[in-house]
Amino acid sequence: MRGRFITFEGGEGTGKSTHASLLAQRIKSFGIGTLLTREPGGSPGAEVMRYVLLSGAVRPLGAEAEAVVFAAARDDHLTTMIRPALERGKWVVCDRFADSTRIYQGVAGKVDPLAIKAMERIIVGDTKPDLTLILDVPAKEGMKRAAERRGSGSTDRFEGEALSFHEKLRDGFLTLAANEPDRCVLIDATSSKEQVAEQIWRVVSKKLDPASAPIAFEDFKV
Ligand code: TMP
Repeated sequence: MRGRFITFEGGEGTGKSTHASLLAQRIKSFGIGTLLTREPGGSPGAEVMRYVLLSGAVRPLGAEAEAVVFAAARDDHLTTMIRPALERGKWVVCDRFADSTRIYQGVAGKVDPLAIKAMERIIVGDTKPDLTLILDVPAKEGMKRAAERRGSGSTDRFEGEALSFHEKLRDGFLTLAANEPDRCVLIDATSSKEQVAEQIWRVVSKKLDPASAPIAFEDFKV
């Protein structure tokens, strides 16, 4: 049986990476084979593209070119990591996926939504997430948290954008959550880490019921 595919989405500093990792650990504790991964990246080829994208090297070529490179990274990640894991019955928890392209390159970058949709159809195909958790905090708060996490390090390609860009991202994610309520669940990520983790766990338990999932026995080989 195909595993489950869960994605985390949201703006900068919303706590996606922390909560993706906590959720993956919790799923694993049920004996379910679990792959925790991220985009851009998640496979050796896509991690190279991540480095190039976040360095800002593709930025001068325009948002369309960036969307194409994000899609190329996604193609490699899906082919070499995500689909094989799902086929083996593993649950995949991914920190960002195709919705980030829709919102960052589509909504904020103004790339033609038809072009974004066409790329998604070609690259993602049927490998759509079963559940997408959209972590929400006000843009200003998210930027503050991201700056605290960065410390003295420099901003990457997107962190360095103005507050108005980050507000567009937030609006885009809120609209996405409202438009696709069957797949997307909005999580208020302003409360404590523990409270947010519990909120996420309640949603995952209700929608996907990990407690009754078949166990991928190959993960128990010694
Ligand atoms: P992060 O993994 O640290 O959040 O960094 C990834 C950055 O890349 C983040 O600013 C969002 C951006 N991004 C896009 O613009 N489009 C995409 O399709 C993806 C996956 C990420």
